[in-house]
Amino acid sequence: MTNDVIQQQIEYYRARANEYDRWFYRIGRYDRGEELNRRWFDEVAILKSALHQIKPVEHILELACGTGIWTQELLQIGQQITAIDAASEVIEINRQKLQSPQVKYQQWDLFTWEPEQQYDLVFFSFWLSHVPPMLLNSFLQKVYRSVRIGGQIFIIDSRFEPTSTAKDHVLKNDGSIYKLRKLNDGQEFQIVKLFYKPDELKKELAIAQFKTEVKVTENYFIYARGKKVTT
Ligand SMILES: C[S@@+](CC[C@H](N)C(=O)[O-])C[C@H]1O[C@@H](n2cnc3c(N)ncnc32)[C@H](O)[C@@H]1O
Repeated sequence: MTNDVIQQQIEYYRARANEYDRWFYRIGRYDRGEELNRRWFDEVAILKSALHQIKPVEHILELACGTGIWTQELLQIGQQITAIDAASEVIEINRQKLQSPQVKYQQWDLFTWEPEQQYDLVFFSFWLSHVPPMLLNSFLQKVYRSVRIGGQIFIIDSRFEPTSTAKDHVLKNDGSIYKLRKLNDGQEFQIVKLFYKPDELKKELAIAQFKTEVKVTENYFIYARGKKVTT
């Protein structure tokens, strides 16, 4: 089941590559009207402001980089970015959008990826919620190994809020980690989507030995900033 869902998630994002940004920029099926859209972008501004409090660093690792929505922010913080994603279609959009020699892309399934070096900052957004619980600890341990001592992590993810998803998705609070996702052409995929509460996320990151501060925005987002303090 776990391997199957990992593959479905990759296929889902490959097929969704061209429509992914519509979610973040609240277009089409994701347009929730002026007031809710404003709320969304106000909360995105809080995330960006928290991220940009990080002082400039040399080398950033971005995991599950997607189409570049956050890679472009990271370019303002790091001299070099290594951006990893499993979906070649998504990487291509990111590459075309940013056209930056400072960003080097790698195509990896993060569940088979092993860090080859250590970075000053490791960042991932809207990714941890797709990591199946039984693989969470081993994934976070790899993240830990990929951060240098004194280096940082910054994580962004979704809070449970039904208006964050498309108008034709009903987000049920039914305790299931599996969600059905539909594309514009009607194709359906089963994916994992977890909604961490701050204390749960803090606990998981502490198990992986990160010292973190976890915050939420009013409706839509959870974010964590952490440090690797020991070997
Ligand atoms: C919700 S998107 C987030 C993208 C980006 N971080 C952002 O915030 O815009 C999840 C990303 O994870 C990638 N992904 C899915 N399964 C993966 C896997 N097993 N290994 C690496 N990347 C994967 C998808 O291709 C997609 O780009």
